[in-house]
Amino acid sequence: MDKPLEDALNLLLESERAGVAALEQLIKEVELEELRKFLSGSRDVERRNAEELEALIQSNGGTPSTRVGPFAGKVAALKTLRERLALLSRGQEWAARKTEVALALAPASGPIHDYLTAMANRHRAEVEWGRAEVLKLLGANG
Ligand SMILES: [Fe+2]
Repeated sequence: MDKPLEDALNLLLESERAGVAALEQLIKEVELEELRKFLSGSRDVERRNAEELEALIQSNGGTPSTRVGPFAGKVAALKTLRERLALLSRGQEWAARKTEVALALAPASGPIHDYLTAMANRHRAEVEWGRAEVLKLLGANG
């Protein structure tokens, strides 16, 4: 695998790990059962993404990064739950864009192309659905 693609995939890997860390932290602070369930579901998806990206890099001749991105610290630095949730949603949008950047560097067909296409779609869907879901949950409970 060439270096620009390896770097782009490792950026995604580090970001998905950061997403797991950010969600873990948030889950501990959320009292609302439904919201906690929703965030736990997102955390599981992020964790699976990180595992799959690591395997994808490895099986295509790259070296997976062992680092975690800076996102969790940025989320933790915010004061209110609403602000943190809004940043999480923007994080999904960012990840979707970065996935599309990686996709442009990948071969036009094959396992990397297919994986990144699915991952970009998943993130786009999560942005839309997550926003609606979070607003509903927060709205219903003040
Ligand atoms: Fe993600």
